[in-house]
Amino acid sequence: MLDKLKKRRTQYALGKTLPLPEAQVDALIREAIRHSPSSFNSQSSRAVILFGEESDRFWNIAREALRAIVPAADFAATSKKIDGFASGAGTVLFYEDQGPVKALQDNFPLYAHNFPIWSEHSTGMAQLAVWSTLADAGIGASLQHYHPLVDAETAKTWNIPASWKLTAQMPFGSNEAGFPEKSFIDDDVRFRTVGTRSLESRAA
Ligand SMILES: Cc1cc2nc3c(=O)[nH]c(=O)nc-3n(C[C@H](O)[C@H](O)[C@H](O)COP(=O)(O)O)c2cc1C
Repeated sequence: MLDKLKKRRTQYALGKTLPLPEAQVDALIREAIRHSPSSFNSQSSRAVILFGEESDRFWNIAREALRAIVPAADFAATSKKIDGFASGAGTVLFYEDQGPVKALQDNFPLYAHNFPIWSEHSTGMAQLAVWSTLADAGIGASLQHYHPLVDAETAKTWNIPASWKLTAQMPFGSNEAGFPEKSFIDDDVRFRTVGTRSLESRAA
């Protein structure tokens, strides 16, 4: 598992040649989300998996939405960035269905304020599961956030239920470049381990 987690990196240099048939990639994405945890097992995560021209269509929606708000002088750079995401083989749109979230709020008023937060946690877990699963299959991906800018047009294009809230977009494809070295902050800053005898005796 840790090996798989370590394989996951942000890949911006995406190509269209997948190492697996699209149907298998689709199945992997579904399985990864299906087996991701959710608060009270509410299974609130949803996904729209776009391949080929449908993925291009999404990135054109993002491009046009950005054209409306990015200063004209900066738009060429923005559009080039979007080209990079569209150069992949597909895109996963991650959603959280607010229906089950609302039902939990109604059924458990004591935790009502927590369910939207836990729904955000659940989508993060689903995203990590998909990203790591794709990486393990030799497929590169990155994590993008063009919502709420793209929400209305995306919902119209793929007939997305009104209760689905877009939380992330993951363009994926072949790895067309290596990954830069990743540095890590000191363990002393991040971690405290308490009460483990074996670690204490190692330090002594
Ligand atoms: C919650 C979250 C939000 C992120 N948002 C973006 C994003 O909007 N655009 C992007 O290019 N990368 C985004 N990333 C990717 C991070 O920049 C990246 O994971 C980090 O720099 C570490 O690099 P690595 O993915 O290669 O390990 C996001 C990552 C997380 C966990």
